[in-house]
Amino acid sequence: MSDHTPAQVARMRVAPSILSADFTNLGDAVAGVTPGTDWLHVDVMDGHFVPNLTIGPPVVASLRKHSSLYFDTHLMITDPGKYLEPFRDAGADGCTVHVEVGETAALIAQMRSLGLRAGIAANPDTPFEALEPFLDQVDLVLCMTVFPGFGGQSFMAEVLPKIAQVRAAADAAGLTLDVEVDGGIDEQTVVEVVQAGANVFVAGSAVFNRDDPLAALEGILAAAEAEAEAAAVQAGAPS
Ligand code: DX5
Ligand code: ZN
Repeated sequence: MSDHTPAQVARMRVAPSILSADFTNLGDAVAGVTPGTDWLHVDVMDGHFVPNLTIGPPVVASLRKHSSLYFDTHLMITDPGKYLEPFRDAGADGCTVHVEVGETAALIAQMRSLGLRAGIAANPDTPFEALEPFLDQVDLVLCMTVFPGFGGQSFMAEVLPKIAQVRAAADAAGLTLDVEVDGGIDEQTVVEVVQAGANVFVAGSAVFNRDDPLAALEGILAAAEAEAEAAAVQAGAPS
C-alpha cells in the first residue's frame, strides 16, 4: 500500500491560505501563523477561470518584504503563461497552474526555466488521467477538494480516490511529489486526505476564521501527523 510512505510523512505541512485572512492586515496575519509552517498559500483569481477576483503580483511583492515563507502560488487564471514571470519577480517560490487551461507541458517548462517549483492542479471533476502525463515533470500536484473560487466551502470526499491514484502513481515511479489538497480542509477532513496520500494541506477558513489561527493551524498538522503515526503502527512499521 502506498499511503504513509516516509516521503509523505516527512514532508507534511499545512499551507495557510491568505484568501481567508484580513486583507487590511495581511502582514500581521502572515506573521501570526509563521511559527507553525514554512509555506504560505497565495490564491490568485482572474474573474474568468473562476468567478472571483483576488490578488496579483504587487501584493505578493509586498508580502515578500515581510516574510521568508515559501510562497505557494495557486494560479486560478486562464492565461498563466503571461503572469509566471511577474509572479516569480514578485517573490513566488512555486507556481501551480490548472491543467484545465491547457498547454500544460509548455507551462511546466516555462516555470522550470524561470526557476520556479512547478505545480499542476486539477478541479474536482477533472480525472487523474489529465494529470498522469505530467507527473514526472512536476514538483507538486494539487487536487482541489472544492470547486475553486471561494473559501469556506465544504470538502468533497469524492476526490479522495484521485488523491490516492496520484500518490500511488508517484510512488510506483519513484517520484517524491508533493501531493497537495485545497478546499474544506480542517482537523477532521485532513485525516481522510492523509489516508489517501496527501502531504500538503491548504487551509484558509479553518485557520484564519478561528480566534487563534496559529493554534488552529497546529491542530490540523497534529491531526495529520497522528493519523500517519496510527497508520504506521497498524502497519507494523517502526515508529
Ligand atoms: C479556493 C482556494 C482555496 C481556499 C480554501 O478556490 O483555492 O485555497 O482559500 O479555503 P478553505 O480552506 O476555506 O476551503
Ligand atoms: Zn488555493
